[in-house]
Amino acid sequence: MSRSAHPAGPRHADVLPEGHYSAPPTDLNALDSKVWAETVTRDTDGVLTVGGIDVKRLAEEFGTPAYFLDEDDFRARARSWRTAFGDDADVFYAGKAFLSRAVVRWLHEEGLNLDVCSGGELATALSAGMPAERIAFHGNNKSTDEIRRAVEAGVGRIVLDSFQEIVRVAHIAQELGTRQRVQIRITVGVEAHTHEFIATAHEDQKFGIPLAGGQAAEAVRRALTLDGLELIGIHSHIGSQIFDMSGFEVAAHRVVGLLRDIRDEHGVELPEIDLGGGLGIAYTSDDDPREPHEIAKALTEIVTRECDAARLATPRISVEPGRAIVGPTAFTLYEVGTVKPLDGLRTYVSVDGGMSDNIRTALYDAEYSVALASRVSEAEPMLCRVVGKHCESGDIVVKDAFLPGDLAPGDLIAVPATGAYCRSMASNYNHVLRPPVVAVRDGEARVIVRRETEEDLLRLDVG
Ligand code: LLP
Repeated sequence: MSRSAHPAGPRHADVLPEGHYSAPPTDLNALDSKVWAETVTRDTDGVLTVGGIDVKRLAEEFGTPAYFLDEDDFRARARSWRTAFGDDADVFYAGKAFLSRAVVRWLHEEGLNLDVCSGGELATALSAGMPAERIAFHGNNKSTDEIRRAVEAGVGRIVLDSFQEIVRVAHIAQELGTRQRVQIRITVGVEAHTHEFIATAHEDQKFGIPLAGGQAAEAVRRALTLDGLELIGIHSHIGSQIFDMSGFEVAAHRVVGLLRDIRDEHGVELPEIDLGGGLGIAYTSDDDPREPHEIAKALTEIVTRECDAARLATPRISVEPGRAIVGPTAFTLYEVGTVKPLDGLRTYVSVDGGMSDNIRTALYDAEYSVALASRVSEAEPMLCRVVGKHCESGDIVVKDAFLPGDLAPGDLIAVPATGAYCRSMASNYNHVLRPPVVAVRDGEARVIVRRETEEDLLRLDVG
C-alpha cells in the first residue's frame, strides 16, 4: 500500500465517535516527555531514538515486537527513589513489575532492595547476586517449598499473609534451626482509587489479614509467641497506579494505630513499617505522577506525625515501588501489518504483537499512548485503535489514539510506558512468541531477555 492518505476513517474532532480521547494533538510528531523514557527523542530524520540508537536500526537488529528499555533512565529512577528516602528508609523494588538478572544487578549497584513473590523471582534474584538479606518474600499462598528456600537462603524478611502462614513459616524456621525475620501484611480497609483488580487494601479480597475485627491484632499475638519468628513490623499495600496520597495517609494512620495497640498490649515497639508500592506513572499526557522526593517527604511526614501522636519512636519505613521505577523506562516497538479504516468509526491498525505482550488494556481497560516511530508525518490525524494479531476481538493494545492518516504497513509504531507489567505478564496465547527485552545505553543495545523461539515452545510440549 502506498503512503497516500486513507480514503476513509474519521479525522476531525467534530465527527469523532465516543471514546477515551480528547481532541487530536496539535502535533502528532511531538513526544511528551512525561510518557517517554528519558533518552527518547527524534533524530534529524524524525526517527525515534533511545539511548542514541534509532528504532529502525533496533528493529533490524532485534526484530519486532520488542521492548526497548532505557538503562540510564532505569538506574536514575531507582537512584532517585533511593536518595529521596535516604538512609533511614529502605526501598524494595517490586520484581513483579519486571524482573531479569540484569535488572537485579542494576538494583544491587544502585543500593535498592528487592521484593519477590515466587520461587521463580527468588531464584532470579539470588542467581544474579542480590544478597539474601536485601530480599523480601511476599505472596498470599507461598508453598512450603518456597518458604523453605527463602528461609534457607536467609532472606531479610518474609511478609506473612495468613494465619496458616504464620505457623508454617515458624515451623520451617524452627526445623532449620533459625529465627526468621517477618512482617505481617494487614488490610487497613482503604479503597484505593484504581481498578478493582489492582486495589488491595479494602477488606473483601485475598491479600493480608484484616485490621477490622481484631484479626491483625490476633495475628501479632500469635507471631510474638512463636520461637521461629522475629516479628519486625507491619506491612500494608493499598493498590496500584495511585496518584492521590490520601489513601497512604489513612493506611499509615491505621498501621501506626496497630503499632500503638501492640505496644500497649505487649510492651513491644515494632521497629519497621512497610507502606508497599502502588505509585502511579503517566501512561498518557493526562496523568500527572508525583516525584519520588515528594512521595518520600509526604510519607515520612505522615508516619512521623502519626507516631508522635501515639508517642511511638518513628519506625524505619520501607516502600516497594515497581511500576514507578521500571514502567516509564521502556516502550514496545511494533511493525504495522494492516490498516483498516471503518467508515464513521475508527481505523484499526494491526500490529505484530498484542495481548500476549501487553494484557493490561484487555484486563484493566488501561490507557496507553502511541506514536509513529520510524518517521514523522504531516498527514492529518486519524482516530485509531491499535490491535494485536490474536484471535480475540478484545486484543487491543491502545484503545483510542491518533496516528497520522498516511500510516501504512511497514511503519514502526511505539507504545511508551510498557516497562511494568507487560513483559512480566506476557503469555504465549495463540503460541505467539514472547518478545525480547533489549537494554539500550550510550549507543549500545544489549538483549537482557531474549526473544522466545518456536524451539522454546516445543521443548515444553513433551506429549
Ligand atoms: N508491593 C506489593 C506487596 C505488591 O503487591 C505490589 C504490586 C507492589 C509492591 C508494587 O506495586 P507497583 O508500585 O508496581 O504498583 N498487574 C497490575 C499491577 C498488579 C500489582 C500487584 N502488586 C497492573 O498491571 O497494573
